Amino acid sequence: MKKKLVFSTNNAHKLEEIKNILGDKVEILSLADIDCHADIPETADTLEGNARQKAMYVYTHYGMDCFADDTGLEVDALEGAPGVHSARYASEKGHDSQANMEKLLREMEEKNDRKAQFRTIISLIEKGEEKQFEGVVRGEILRERKGNAGFGYDPVFRPEGYDKTFAELGNEIKNKISHRARAVAALCEYLSKE
Ligand code: IMP
Repeated sequence: MKKKLVFSTNNAHKLEEIKNILGDKVEILSLADIDCHADIPETADTLEGNARQKAMYVYTHYGMDCFADDTGLEVDALEGAPGVHSARYASEKGHDSQANMEKLLREMEEKNDRKAQFRTIISLIEKGEEKQFEGVVRGEILRERKGNAGFGYDPVFRPEGYDKTFAELGNEIKNKISHRARAVAALCEYLSKE
């Protein structure tokens, strides 16, 4: 019988992306599919902790195998900030990308070391046992925004080996080389071997 896994996310785009990659090997259920409309807590202080918390919530409350992801932008000169606080960097309300980028550019004004990375952690819980997968893309923070595609910090992040930002490269290229794509690939490799 085909394996069933819940993806603990409310992001329809991420759900579609992973369904496309996993094809028909695994049946992926959304939170809506299992009638979960809770505001799942994300209160840990690491990406690893948040991913685990989101996956464990579903496993504990619904008894179903599950995975969840968490991503942060980690800037070397800022000692890994904004990291786990990436969504709420500029304000506790969160998800204001323009304000987040403005704050980042301000904090980086005097810094010559521009190196940074996006890091995604996926936590998979099967029968109560956890396994984690990581995806990293190194790059640098520009001094101004460039490009309109993507979301979040894409206009100020230029991945290593490219002369364009994620926002200039567009989703087709980004989705092949991104932190999330790499973490998802590691998850898929594991699932296809199981
Ligand atoms: P999440 O864990 O995927 O919700 O990501 C947390 C935050 O990290 C988002 O709100 C964005 O600010 C930032 N982020 C995550 N992935 C990306 C990306 O691919 N490009 C730009 N910003 C991202």
